Amino acid sequence: MPLKLSSRAAKIPYYPAAGGYGLPDGVALMASNETPDAPLPEVVEAAARALAGTNRYPDPAYRPLRDRLAGLTGVPSERIAVGNGSCEILLALGEALLEEGAELVYGWPAFSVYPHLEAASGATAVRVPLDAEHRHDLDAIAAAITGRTRLVIVCNPNNPTSTAVGLDDLRGFLAKVPEDVVVILDEAYVEFAERYRPEESLPLLDEHPNLVILRTFSKIYGLAGLRVGYALCANEELVGAAARVRQPFVVNVAAEAAAVEALAHPGAIAARVAQAREARAAVDAGLRDLGIVPAASEANFAWFDLPAGGPAAGGTVDDTATPATVEQAVIAALRAEKVLVRSGGALGRPGALRVTYGTPDENRRFLAALGRALGA
Ligand SMILES: Cc1ncc(COP(=O)(O)O)c(C=O)c1O
Repeated sequence: MPLKLSSRAAKIPYYPAAGGYGLPDGVALMASNETPDAPLPEVVEAAARALAGTNRYPDPAYRPLRDRLAGLTGVPSERIAVGNGSCEILLALGEALLEEGAELVYGWPAFSVYPHLEAASGATAVRVPLDAEHRHDLDAIAAAITGRTRLVIVCNPNNPTSTAVGLDDLRGFLAKVPEDVVVILDEAYVEFAERYRPEESLPLLDEHPNLVILRTFSKIYGLAGLRVGYALCANEELVGAAARVRQPFVVNVAAEAAAVEALAHPGAIAARVAQAREARAAVDAGLRDLGIVPAASEANFAWFDLPAGGPAAGGTVDDTATPATVEQAVIAALRAEKVLVRSGGALGRPGALRVTYGTPDENRRFLAALGRALGA
């Protein structure tokens, strides 16, 4: 059927979700930056208890979750928005702030949802290349802001490159951004960062009325399948801006109950961070043994360029191979060994791979399979 899409919808790219769904057990899912650990039993029980009340809509104010987040962060609950994943809040803010003629600035490569914002709104995106260390070039981002800029996004640590910038640099950058330009600091991976702890970026909200700190339960909290995220906003107007354009009841009752319970187990979260650090050290060392230098990861995943002109699957060397064909050959070889990783080409850098840390066994399987794919 020749469907007539609106010209706006026709421009919106499909989100390039990684594969890995409906596969048999035993496949190492290292493509979507989830945590390999199941949610805590108490969290599953809290979600299950909430299911008994699902004949009723959720409380649209999401008091229990917002109050709990307020208690933990010191940000008043009126300045906290919760969402169906942090992505949903991001898209809502984009819709509320952007339109044709406006500009949106972000570093690139960064999170693959950001390009939806310009496509959905008709705004112009200004993508600022990362520096040679795969980090945000905050000076260049600040210099790219014009009188038309409405929104700037800084992803820290950055997906897909795993790198982070420090608080002093962020503070210096924010001081250069005019107050009528909203800055979203996307901290989906902040719990894994080395440069600063999650609580240390919160004072920035008191210094900059245009700041939104975006966080999620999908990563360290292990609730990706339930979809819950939140935004800590410098002022209530930003919460209201997102609320204007969203459907009511965005977070379901099971997700809210699970998120509230997940916040009650800081010891388990600290243990997962420690486990991710160990995984990082093991994967980093294993990649270096293969002659690969990954970006300096402060997240739960590695980012690296494959050797150039490199081998195809099966260990045959092809000097004419482009980065993109090397990447595809390696991804196919890993897949054949039941290891799923993410294509760098799909994320803005052909020839690169993004690999989420798995269990110790999965990390070993990945490194062994990569070694074989590279003919090492
Ligand atoms: C940088 C970044 N921000 C936000 C998200 C969205 O997370 P969610 O919508 O699951 O909360 C992701 C997910 O991969 C991400 O990588």
